Amino acid sequence: MARRRARRAARRERLRLRPLLLRARTRGHRRGSGPGAEERVEPSRDRAAPTARAARGGSVSQQHRIGIEVVKSFTMPGSVRLTSLPPLSLYVHFPWCVRKCPYCDFNSHEWKGERFPENDYLDALRADLEQALPLVWGRQVHTIFIGGGTPSLLSAQGLDRMLSDIRALLPLDADAEITLEANPGTFEAAKFAQFRASGVNRLSVGIQSFDEAHLKALGRIHDAAQARHAVEVAASTFDNFNLDLMFALPQQTLAQCQADIETALAFKPPHLSLYHLTLEPNTLFAKFPPVLPDDDQSADMQEWIHARTAEAGYGRYEVSAYAQPGRQSQHNLNYWRFGDYLGIGAGAHSKLSFPNRIVRQMRYKHPTTFIEQARAGTPIHEQHEVSAHDLPFEFMLNALRLVEGFPVHRFIERTGLPITTIEPALQEAERRGLIARDHEKIAPTELGQRFLNDLQGLFLKDEA
Ligand SMILES: C[S@@+](CC[C@H](N)C(=O)[O-])C[C@H]1O[C@@H](n2cnc3c(N)ncnc32)[C@H](O)[C@@H]1O
Ligand code: SF4
Repeated sequence: MARRRARRAARRERLRLRPLLLRARTRGHRRGSGPGAEERVEPSRDRAAPTARAARGGSVSQQHRIGIEVVKSFTMPGSVRLTSLPPLSLYVHFPWCVRKCPYCDFNSHEWKGERFPENDYLDALRADLEQALPLVWGRQVHTIFIGGGTPSLLSAQGLDRMLSDIRALLPLDADAEITLEANPGTFEAAKFAQFRASGVNRLSVGIQSFDEAHLKALGRIHDAAQARHAVEVAASTFDNFNLDLMFALPQQTLAQCQADIETALAFKPPHLSLYHLTLEPNTLFAKFPPVLPDDDQSADMQEWIHARTAEAGYGRYEVSAYAQPGRQSQHNLNYWRFGDYLGIGAGAHSKLSFPNRIVRQMRYKHPTTFIEQARAGTPIHEQHEVSAHDLPFEFMLNALRLVEGFPVHRFIERTGLPITTIEPALQEAERRGLIARDHEKIAPTELGQRFLNDLQGLFLKDEA
């Protein structure tokens, strides 16, 4: 079980999205932190007043409920004791796509009508954020990731409204990284210039491949020419951008994989996310599996990618993430460093820390249900406190994805537990040559990176 989860975790920058496991052991999660300084546990006094909804004159019972929630979150005894709160990021989920890709298990829905209900969804997002404010009250937001689905389907006015709403409700760093996921089939240069003007300062483009036949096999709505055009628009409009590519595609040869990566490198993208295609349950590919490269072939591709990207000046800093110096994704780093994130929108996941507890939430998944529930002020479908038992595994599931590993103090700060909690598993990992450590730092070795699932599995309590 842990292995399957760890494997799934190993795949995408999206974390954006979605927690890998909703709960540890039987649940889990995903993602990491920005460079910001640790925030104090106490909310600052000048932002003490609850929500904009209350300020706008929400009903008395609503204000009362929100007030109780704030007090409970910050004062109720829980299973941990945190001395500081981690940096906070915001994830916004956009749940529609032009067409559902056969390999994709993200919460994305083909919109069959003329146009998705943009205004209704933006209203719902605002209502969702308003009801969530008490839980992040007084905390600065360091990064925003607008993911999907295909959020580049939003109109320029819609995206502008969304960012204005967020700025009006949350204190955002002046230089916050604001990423938008974009699909090459939706690229209009003028619209992307407007996205940039609204404050988006990083684009993540879902290229997948530059090869016509592979794009077809993947059921993409764009062709090779559109893929190149998308990168040109991204590069001319945005100083900072990422290209998503997948490898080990149906019937892909090493030479074809190399050609894709060379094409991507020729555009000198600041960041590359290179994912091994995985067959996910409940997808068309799972039902009708295509012929995929075998393990040896895909290992050759992986090895070549590591060497070639390094030669081109890209540091591999996470399982699938490669960056030019200083261009790592700050949003995803926050997930992997076990930072906090508020996720709003259909099916979005949140991980939020309080002095005595760490809470995970998931919003209603289906867009229509989410819109209805958000309107009613109840967008949360599921919420639970992460137990002290599950925390070490959840932390390690993320932290070990990073090539740099983690400083020991981060484990203590982010879980509220002593490092001795994981000492037996650390000893076993060290004995097997999967980690290297000193009194300050713990990092996966090359062997540990290669057998990451086994390494992560050691931190499942009953397997250590
Ligand atoms: C949810 S998609 C969003 C981006 C945008 N909708 C697009 O597809 O262009 C994020 C990325 O996850 C990766 N991804 C999705 N399904 C995958 C799978 N089964 N295996 C590996 N990577 C996958 C793709 O590279 C994709 O660009
Ligand atoms: S466009 Fe992206 S999110 Fe939509 S179905 Fe395809 S891979 Fe999934």
